[in-house]
Amino acid sequence: MKRIAVLTTGGDAPGMNPAIRSVVRYGINQKLEVMGVFRGWWGLINEELKVLDHRSVSGIINQGGTILKTARCAEFKTEEGMSRAYNTVKKYNIDGLVVIGGNGSFTAAHEFYKKYKVPVIGIPASIDNDVNGIDYTIGTDTAINTALDAIDKIRDTATSMERIFVVEVMGRNSGFIALTVALAGGCEDVIIPEKKLDLELICHDIVHGNLVGKMSWIIVVAEGAGKAEDIAKKITEITSLETRTVVLGHVQRGGRPTAVSRDLALHLGKSAVDCLLSGKTDIAVGLGGGKFAEIDFEVAIQKKELKIVNLFNLIRVLT
Ligand code: F6P
Repeated sequence: MKRIAVLTTGGDAPGMNPAIRSVVRYGINQKLEVMGVFRGWWGLINEELKVLDHRSVSGIINQGGTILKTARCAEFKTEEGMSRAYNTVKKYNIDGLVVIGGNGSFTAAHEFYKKYKVPVIGIPASIDNDVNGIDYTIGTDTAINTALDAIDKIRDTATSMERIFVVEVMGRNSGFIALTVALAGGCEDVIIPEKKLDLELICHDIVHGNLVGKMSWIIVVAEGAGKAEDIAKKITEITSLETRTVVLGHVQRGGRPTAVSRDLALHLGKSAVDCLLSGKTDIAVGLGGGKFAEIDFEVAIQKKELKIVNLFNLIRVLT
């Protein structure tokens, strides 16, 4: 193996830059030439790539986003797109790929490997923490802390003005961010796609709380479970109480990666290069069961079951 390429694809996540830095610097340390592909699969299809040296990843360890840019690329799902990407791989003598992204990225990487047998290793990076078999994806910790910071601030005004807030967080089809920040933020309730919504129960708690003097509420809703606006409207209809909504949105994707996101990224960049050097392929490296692990793409791309019961109950018990 002489030359490898690294790309970031799908939604950006804070910590992608430290992961790139690690792949590039450790790769060079291992006598590899490392190319950076721009805009994910799109760059592989359209030959947007260049050799990265030690200095080209200087000063990025503390930056959110990705210096390689990223994109969602429908073209890569087509035969023609994949074949053009493979032509680039051949033309530039790329012996292995490191794909930094989430489960959609790994699905594409797995298909690419099956078709063209180009060695490929995935580094899980997504704020959604929805890669099966992986405890934490790069970026999750940063996104959770960003959302938590916002919720702490919302609490100041919610308490002062004795209001009900419905705060919508990201996570695509996963309630992981919502559950984690609801617990850490001392929120009164949480609505997630993994659990059937019981709005009557939430409204009953609010009304009962009001009777005993509890006047402010923060209800976190995962985007996969509904829109804050709709839920707030229904709460007002049922309780006749005023509500406010906040949609945290893409704020959760940005910002300086936390130490947890950075360290994970730096470890996994090295692991990915080691895997390629030892002839491994079609796997993701990551934290699995509390240890550094290698997970087959076939497993990593399955739907991740969120173990919600304990967390969900704890939030309700502590309200
Ligand atoms: O996968 C990361 C994520 O931020 C999800 O939480 C969200 O549903 C989606 O990406 C938003 O995608 P886009 O930035 O393409 O609108």
